[in-house]
Amino acid sequence: MQIRKAIISDAANMDRLNRNILPENYPMSDWLFALMNCPSYSFVAYDKDKLVGYVLGLVVNNQGLIASLAVEKDYRRKHIAECLMGKSLSEFKKTFVDVKLNVRVGNTSAQNLYTKFGFTKSKYEKSYYEDGEDGYEMILSF
Ligand SMILES: CC(C)(COP(=O)(O)OP(=O)(O)OC[C@H]1O[C@@H](n2cnc3c(N)ncnc32)[C@H](O)[C@@H]1OP(=O)(O)O)[C@@H](O)C(=O)NCCC(=O)NCCS
Repeated sequence: MQIRKAIISDAANMDRLNRNILPENYPMSDWLFALMNCPSYSFVAYDKDKLVGYVLGLVVNNQGLIASLAVEKDYRRKHIAECLMGKSLSEFKKTFVDVKLNVRVGNTSAQNLYTKFGFTKSKYEKSYYEDGEDGYEMILSF
């Protein structure tokens, strides 16, 4: 398993994995824009040539943000997400006082992961998601 910083040529693989796993998708231009403009905070996990996980870290209005995180189903519970998040958060910590993210109320797997890093729920967001599910904003203060 190779875990490294994401580069622009990872965008197509990240987009593909994102569409396979999450209902929140982005146009390719957003992936390219993110990797070009915030190159420090996104990481990818590869098993040989296959992308099996990514974390997309962004800076929006001078706020650090974990914008998307996914691990291929067959590769879960191997601490891949933990490793990706750890690397991204270490980079954010160099410049920011905190990092935020959003998570579905029903996504306890991801909430457990974020809690493990010290994220706490900072806001309840009614119907935050397009399908109507509520969300939490979570924050990690360094
Ligand atoms: C959430 C997700 C990224 C976790 O990836 P992963 O590589 O399997 O997670 P890890 O193995 O690094 O797990 C780290 C910790 O997260 C928590 N966790 C992860 N999966 C969990 C699950 N299915 N049930 C409960 N806790 C879970 C645990 O605390 C775990 O630590 P432990 O294994 O020591 O108990 C993965 O399940 C996924 O891609 N889900 C679909 C996409 C998604 O929900 N993305 C987040 C959107 S906000």
